[in-house]
Amino acid sequence: MTRTQKLEVEPIEQKLVRQVDEVMKSIAGLDAANAMQVFLELAREIDDEVGDRLLDNNPELITRYRPLATSIYQQYVFEFEKSARKQLMDQVNRSASTFKAATDFFGSAAYDRTEEMFRHLDFLNAGRIVVVGCGQLPFTAFYAHDHTQQTEIIALDVLDDTITGVVQLAHMFDMNRLQAEVTAGQLFDFDGADIVYVANMVSPKSEVLKRIADTAPSTVQVVLRDPYSMGRLWSERGRDMLHPHFMETGDGAGANYKSQDVYLKRAT
Ligand SMILES: C[S@@+](CC[C@H](N)C(=O)[O-])C[C@H]1O[C@@H](n2cnc3c(N)ncnc32)[C@H](O)[C@@H]1O
Repeated sequence: MTRTQKLEVEPIEQKLVRQVDEVMKSIAGLDAANAMQVFLELAREIDDEVGDRLLDNNPELITRYRPLATSIYQQYVFEFEKSARKQLMDQVNRSASTFKAATDFFGSAAYDRTEEMFRHLDFLNAGRIVVVGCGQLPFTAFYAHDHTQQTEIIALDVLDDTITGVVQLAHMFDMNRLQAEVTAGQLFDFDGADIVYVANMVSPKSEVLKRIADTAPSTVQVVLRDPYSMGRLWSERGRDMLHPHFMETGDGAGANYKSQDVYLKRAT
């Protein structure tokens, strides 16, 4: 890079750092839904590559702002899932149908997004799939159940009420191969798991990955939902802390919250 180019690049990055500082100040007093919209607007304004470079060159932005941004993201998704789940239950009470049909009324994009990973991995021959961080609307676990015939699906979450709700939904849609457990991914025994999906919001991702490496069969395939660009402000990037036994084999398209699937397999 020439001296003139450097002089042009530096002020742009400083301007972006200031913009992030201002955005973080501007969300004071906003509820999680509105604060999240402000974050997403910022993320849309910044090119993906520029956002990644900005955070690589200014790691203090992550140290300073991630705790607050993460708690806003968690609160926002929790509230969104809670109200979408309530609507889903009301809908189902009116006319029982499949989970896919029942989700159509509020948009099943999250359910359909799961299809991408099915094109990358051999789900049909999987005996056991584990979803770490299934959430109140377990799109990934339910999609996996809907698109397999004999596979056992295990859905994990750290929240008690979330799992109670998942059990209730699974029962309503006759998902008898789905088991839901209140367990943290970093404590679960992944013995027999052919495929493990780790949700974007899961934390601490490094410990969950280490636990998978320690307890899953050597043939395990992992789908790590990971943030990119400004999404790294509100969730952990597992790729930064891959256990040495894992290697990346590819990644998927980006989506709404600046997250994408990263495919991993055992390196040894
Ligand atoms: C909001 S959900 C998103 C999942 C999405 N609905 C899907 O189907 O992919 C993410 C969940 O991960 C859970 N979680 C976070 N850390 C976890 C951990 N270490 N082990 C298990 N669950 C975890 C949170 O409680 C939250 O419910």
